[in-house]
Amino acid sequence: MTRTHYFTASSLDGFIATEDHSLDWLLSQENDPDGPMGYRAFEARVGAIAMGATTYQWVLDHDDGWAYDMPAWVFTHRDFPPPPGDVRFTSGDVAEVHAQMVAAAAGRDVWIVGGGELVGQFTDRGLVDEVWVQYAPVTLGSGAPLLPRRLDLELLETARNGAFVCARYAVVR
Ligand SMILES: NC(=O)c1ccc[n+]([C@@H]2O[C@H](COP(=O)([O-])OP(=O)(O)OC[C@H]3O[C@@H](n4cnc5c(N)ncnc54)[C@H](OP(=O)(O)O)[C@@H]3O)[C@@H](O)[C@H]2O)c1
Repeated sequence: MTRTHYFTASSLDGFIATEDHSLDWLLSQENDPDGPMGYRAFEARVGAIAMGATTYQWVLDHDDGWAYDMPAWVFTHRDFPPPPGDVRFTSGDVAEVHAQMVAAAAGRDVWIVGGGELVGQFTDRGLVDEVWVQYAPVTLGSGAPLLPRRLDLELLETARNGAFVCARYAVVR
């Protein structure tokens, strides 16, 4: 059965990017994508992703090409150039988009990439099952919030991966 995850890295004080959307503090840390609770095994189970416009723009500006094989939904009101892969731009209802994602994932899982407010829109509708956070040994003081909602979570799993403390939580409904 498809499960919906928020998988992200965060500063210790709960920010996923600086105010000016830098991830230098994160990308400079030691991390093994094939290691405990690492990105590679997580991504292998994902069949559809969604992200907000700022995150999408960051990926376009910084990544070496579009790295995602699965269909992606980008929430935006902006006019972006034709996308580099299977990307659908939307400003639709998150529950309707989520249903489309689950169908496209065909039994695999769904990943809400971020940012935190978009994930909050999904949690408001009861659509997120798990929150995975890789905590970097950094405090930022301000920035883009991890998940600006009140949620109760149950700790399911922890691991150390390089410099990161990794934690996986179930959303308690
Ligand atoms: N640490 C990590 O692992 C990690 C993971 C993910 C992201 N990030 C970073 O975190 C930052 C997140 O940026 P952010 O907080 O601005 O969040 P974001 O979700 O990436 O982008 C927010 C924008 O998405 C659009 N949006 C959100 N909800 C929408 C809706 N329901 N309908 C239509 N459009 C909607 C709006 O853009 P418009 O209305 O302007 O189009 C909004 O301004 C970025 O710098 C990103 O690179 C870090």
